Amino acid sequence: MVAMATMAPGALDGVVRGRVAYGEPLGRHTSLRIGGPADALVVPADLEDLRALLRFTHREGIGTLVLGGGSNTLVLDGGFRGVAIILGEAFTGLEAEGTAVRAGAAVRVSRLLAFCSRQGLAGVECLTGIPGTLGGAVRGNAGTTAGWISDRLRDVAVVLRDGTIARLAKADLDFAYRHSALPAEAVITEATFDLEPGDPGTIRRAISRLLVARNRTQPVESRSAGCMFKNPPGDSAGRLVDAAGMKGARAGDAVVSPKHANFLVNEGRARAADVLALVEAVRARVREHAGVALELEVQIVGEP
Ligand code: EPU
Repeated sequence: MVAMATMAPGALDGVVRGRVAYGEPLGRHTSLRIGGPADALVVPADLEDLRALLRFTHREGIGTLVLGGGSNTLVLDGGFRGVAIILGEAFTGLEAEGTAVRAGAAVRVSRLLAFCSRQGLAGVECLTGIPGTLGGAVRGNAGTTAGWISDRLRDVAVVLRDGTIARLAKADLDFAYRHSALPAEAVITEATFDLEPGDPGTIRRAISRLLVARNRTQPVESRSAGCMFKNPPGDSAGRLVDAAGMKGARAGDAVVSPKHANFLVNEGRARAADVLALVEAVRARVREHAGVALELEVQIVGEP
């Protein structure tokens, strides 16, 4: 690990034109509502601003963390030394050209689905109910049992760690279950999908059916980071945690959801340390009970 330089308030004066908040608590920006402060949180004004920021952080040896929708991330209680980045309105473009759809990385998955059903474009219904934004969904190859976001992806536009822009084809990204080979600290700015013509009513009904199923089986009303663990080959982590008797187990305000055991929910003022303690308790019990070592799906970032 290379030691990262720290950053003082004011350090980004004259570097970026977008919004900058020094010492911003990242718990305000994660779906778990957990996370200590970042040295700075930046919402770049546009693509050139993002590039200027990355050129600067790269030159100065300052770490960056792209938060996206903040929905698959556990930010630790000590926060993040470096610059957290949230792509804002400048990255929410959405347009169809024939059966292709080009979308900014900050477009919510739910908005892409609504857009595609209106346009009569089928192929991404399987992403129904996935929280967060397209950038994060592509990086983590978000999906459901019905399909993954990479299935219909053509390519992505990215800004690399040093500020250079590049377009990466799907084949360059080596997608697998909840995995992509996107270079570390590269920021996805745009994604293009290849869809197919479909009947808007049929697409809408498929989405509604999937939403009903999701709301019935997952604690969508609670603060969570989605599924905590990856499904091991041929099985479901939720089923394993449930069978090990861990539903309702808690550490502080972090609780294994009684509705779906692969969701660890924040019932109030849980800290990242509580979530980590619960993760370890769940892992130990599942190892003991079923002999399976569960791997984390949620990305853990920052300082303890
Ligand atoms: N199950 C239990 N107890 C539970 C939860 C599940 O016994 O507490 C059983 C169910 O009865 C079912 C099986 O486990 O027989 C599978 O459950 P489910 O259909 O809910 O799917 P999953 O494997 O738990 C996966 C994805 C979800 C995705 C759903 C629906 C992973 C880790 N999870 O869950 O993705 O929404 O399928 O397609 O791949 C996520 O990645 O964050 C996520 C929520």
